[in-house]
Amino acid sequence: MSSPKPQIPNSKKRDQPGHKLLAIPGPVEVGNNVLEALAQPPLSHVSPDFTRIFQQGLLLSKKVVGSASGQPFIIAGSGTLGWDQVGANLVERGDRVLVLRTGYFGDGFSSCLTSYGAKVTTLKAPSLGEPVSLGDLESALLGQNFKLITVTHVDTSTGVLSDIKSIAAVARRVSPQTLIVLDAVCSAGCEDIKMDAWGIDVVLTASQKAIGALPGLSLLIASPRALETYSTRTSPIQGYYASWQKWLPIMEAYMAGKAAYFGTQPVNLVRALTEALQDIMKNGEEGLALRIEAHRKAARRLRAVAAQLGMKTLTSRGAEAAGLTAVWVPEGLTATKILQRAGAKGVVMAGGLLAEVKDRYIRIGHMGVSVVDERRGDIEKITDTLYAVVTELLEEKRPEPATS
Ligand SMILES: Cc1ncc(COP(=O)(O)O)c(C=O)c1O
Repeated sequence: MSSPKPQIPNSKKRDQPGHKLLAIPGPVEVGNNVLEALAQPPLSHVSPDFTRIFQQGLLLSKKVVGSASGQPFIIAGSGTLGWDQVGANLVERGDRVLVLRTGYFGDGFSSCLTSYGAKVTTLKAPSLGEPVSLGDLESALLGQNFKLITVTHVDTSTGVLSDIKSIAAVARRVSPQTLIVLDAVCSAGCEDIKMDAWGIDVVLTASQKAIGALPGLSLLIASPRALETYSTRTSPIQGYYASWQKWLPIMEAYMAGKAAYFGTQPVNLVRALTEALQDIMKNGEEGLALRIEAHRKAARRLRAVAAQLGMKTLTSRGAEAAGLTAVWVPEGLTATKILQRAGAKGVVMAGGLLAEVKDRYIRIGHMGVSVVDERRGDIEKITDTLYAVVTELLEEKRPEPATS
């Protein structure tokens, strides 16, 4: 007999009252079913029940990124653990890596890979808010022998979306031996990713953004080519917890419906993740395409309101992400002021992440259940709050009319 589900306070209410609406670019709001999965009594990590749940999660994680042939890894840790998996398993000391940089997270990936002995060349976007140009990419790859290139699909610091389909096509044509690694932490679940069809070798992401679960899980899919590179490396794997030598047999076992052990799985997080992945894939690929379109629509709504307030997007036209909007604050206001006032009205937005312009822009996340469950009214609440906060603050700044 299965045990009864414990009640989560307010979980039956659609809007989960009693908390501020999270409108940051991750973690994001989660559905009641995801919360409830988290609050179940823990299962044994080697039980048949958990094995079924984990197997389902692994299979679904591939579907979200358009991979039939890839090997999924779901490991306790944050998104950063995906970077470490790439460094530990695919990089050998002295390997050359090309990092495409469109913001803060490109720098993070670069410094992670450097710590594994990679010789990193950084290809920067021409200016803040722009993607890397395909022409520059072609020139950077020509006649070189990079072991891998990394691309941040959506850099969460700038909201810049990189055109991974075209980037992968250029890389495959000019430097076919180079592995293509996609950081999809801020894109899987709300942007189009066709890993197999576009020839991407690694897609790494995390549970807490558009995937719609809680922070705490690193998700990574490796292509057969990436696994081949890993298995034919000549030097020992660098690291222990991130080693695929440890994790690959475990993931293969669960995929085959058998339990295995290397490090206790965070059973409740995995359960919540599988719920979230089932929601994403419940209507198959068509449903995923509609979900992506819903994110784009929410992004357009938010940007239209920002434009009415005179707030320009940081991101150049055509490179705007679906799940995140970065906008400059109006002249005379600061990000800190806007965030404080929005917080007081029950909406949590994020400030700038780039040190040089930190207080001059804000970032608003619109991902997951806030977008797809329109009954929650989250997007209206976010747009209404932004409008109210900025008009109030501008009004307060206006000088008193002179009296005669
Ligand atoms: C694009 C990108 N990559 C990597 C990370 C690192 O993920 P985590 O904070 O879960 O370690 C983040 C975090 O926001 C991110 O946005």
